Amino acid sequence: MRRIVWVAALAAFASLSARAATQQPAAGGMYPDKPWAFPAAIEKPFPEDPAPKSLPGSTRTYTPAQIDNLMSPPDWFPDRHPAPPQVVAKGHGGVMACGACHLMSGLGHPESSGLAGLTLPYIVQQMLDFKSGARKDVTGKRMNGIASEMTDLEIQEAAAYFASLPVPPFQKVVESAMVPKTFLGNGRMRFVDPAGGMEPIGARIISVPQEVDRVRLRDPYVGFTSYVPMGSLARGKTLVDTGGGKTMNCGLCHGLDLKGQASIPRLAGMHPVYLARQLYWFKDGTRSGPDAPLMKPWAASLNDDDIIAIAAYLASVE
Ligand code: HEC
Ligand code: HEC
Repeated sequence: MRRIVWVAALAAFASLSARAATQQPAAGGMYPDKPWAFPAAIEKPFPEDPAPKSLPGSTRTYTPAQIDNLMSPPDWFPDRHPAPPQVVAKGHGGVMACGACHLMSGLGHPESSGLAGLTLPYIVQQMLDFKSGARKDVTGKRMNGIASEMTDLEIQEAAAYFASLPVPPFQKVVESAMVPKTFLGNGRMRFVDPAGGMEPIGARIISVPQEVDRVRLRDPYVGFTSYVPMGSLARGKTLVDTGGGKTMNCGLCHGLDLKGQASIPRLAGMHPVYLARQLYWFKDGTRSGPDAPLMKPWAASLNDDDIIAIAAYLASVE
């Protein structure tokens, strides 16, 4: 049934995507002119104080070395999520524990992604695509190796865990002409420059932790503030709800509430920087899994401002 709707949608917009501006794929999916969406090398590491850390509301303490141990990440609030399968909490071989980068809450960071509340079949399909290489973790360079060493059972268990997790409010989206100066720090995250200063936002989304200290400790429930250009939210809403004459109503496939269905992901409340990255990769063909042809036409005709507006609006939807 759903396939039939898609086929109709694809046919209706075939002419539109044929007219789409052809943009040259960036080399290997990297866009050096868009470091806000494609975080590469750390510009400035934070100095590390080795003393054990604690978080308000948690009875646990961890040293910074334990907090950044990708094989065994901190689990600050074990009573706030179901018992995780082994691979989420502890890595083995080349498989790093999912909870390290995606957090035990599954809410993730902008350079990784939120997994909480994605559908189980979607997560499984992405792991298979990372495994086959049809999808590449271009900026992080981790997911292909991780997926290729996982068993089918581990993939199923990790997918079931993350699919079961709720998505509490995590994203704050603020339209602003000026933004604080930032730099790419530990964990390929963007931080407000302590030296201060403001600059025009330009065609960018700037995501920074809502509370730097807690996010650096991998607090699984403290989220991000994203500054977006003025007018992005209204422009994004029109594109998402109606296609705005250049793309398709996203809810047709992603669910009217934009929370995903079948092997189609939730878009509501995702990290905007992550969403923007994916739209560029559908557009340039870097994402080429078996389900990508269902998505590619809707990214094909979007320009930079559309992508920013769509990502900004989707992140703001709860
Ligand atoms: C060292 C960090 C790291 C670890 C550990 C990690 N991931 Fe990832 N993961 C990433 C990054 C970075 C991305 C984003 C790739 C991109 O930009 O497309 C990602 C993306 C994903 C996606 C795609 C999400 C989407 O919305 O399409 C899935 C699914 C995923 N990871 C699952 C897992 C699972 C399951 C594990 C544990 C076995 C895991 N990851 C461990 C860094 C990590
Ligand atoms: C015809 C159905 C269809 C329509 C319409 C559609 N999508 Fe998709 N979308 C998909 C499918 C299927 C996937 C998963 C593709 C894959 O597995 O590679 C996807 C994936 C995505 C992703 C990747 C999310 C992630 O977690 O990595 C983004 C972002 C996205 N779509 C945005 C949009 C936006 C924005 C619109 C509307 C402008 C839209 N989609 C319209 C089918 C659709």
